[in-house]
Amino acid sequence: MTDTRHLYTDLAWLWPMWGDAAAEYAHYCQHVVGLIRRHSRIPAATLLDIGCGGGKNVLNLARAFHVTGLDLSPAMLAQATALNPGCTFVQGDMRTFGLDRTFDAVLMDDAISHMHCRADFVAAFRSASAHLNPGGVLVATPDVTSETFQQNRTTATRATRDGLDVVFVENVYDPDPTDEQCETTILCLIRDRGRLRIQTDHWTMGIFALDTWREVLRDAGFEVHEGRYIAGDDEYTVFACVKTG
Ligand SMILES: C[S@@+](CC[C@H](N)C(=O)[O-])C[C@H]1O[C@@H](n2cnc3c(N)ncnc32)[C@H](O)[C@@H]1O
Repeated sequence: MTDTRHLYTDLAWLWPMWGDAAAEYAHYCQHVVGLIRRHSRIPAATLLDIGCGGGKNVLNLARAFHVTGLDLSPAMLAQATALNPGCTFVQGDMRTFGLDRTFDAVLMDDAISHMHCRADFVAAFRSASAHLNPGGVLVATPDVTSETFQQNRTTATRATRDGLDVVFVENVYDPDPTDEQCETTILCLIRDRGRLRIQTDHWTMGIFALDTWREVLRDAGFEVHEGRYIAGDDEYTVFACVKTG
């Protein structure tokens, strides 16, 4: 099955329906701001959010920093701009982008899961490092690692708005636990005033062991600090990485 990207292209308009941007992402962003303040060796005024998507993290981080968001998808960037008219957004690929400026802090959140091979994973962190000022902090939060992966985990979320009723089912599956990839399959049931449209997405995602994260981050020029972030029943490893040199 080949990869599709409906959720980041023709279905990007669904993005604002998921949760309350300010409330849902605020807790995590407070944690990110705290880590940056604790570990940074320079005054942190600017932040680059890599893979900013619909800009929900940006909305919260903009309370503490001048934020620039980078994403591959113009449709997601349009959502991010609508939510954050005062911030700057740039279209680019996290593996290869080159901006003519650097930042005091960088956030690499859930978009890193789209790096589905080691070479892309390494390239993304090298690009992040190249855009961070020495002494600045990169915060990276793996959605899932080899240690936390749950085979066939399936979740369903429902959202309603303006006559639209959307059910979003997400399934993760690893057909070969010896490699560094897994599959995410998404099923969207979109009912517009009762009329049903069914849309599916299928993505190959990266899944790396914590030791691989540590090694790749160190090799990209970071001093790596590790902590935990707890959200409800879920617990995540968070890396706060200081750029040395
Ligand atoms: C789940 S969304 C991120 C949501 C975001 N954390 C927020 O605050 O709204 C994942 C994003 O990763 C982006 N993405 C995937 N591959 C990318 C790449 N190679 N470079 C940059 N962005 C990428 C997608 O376009 C998508 O917008």
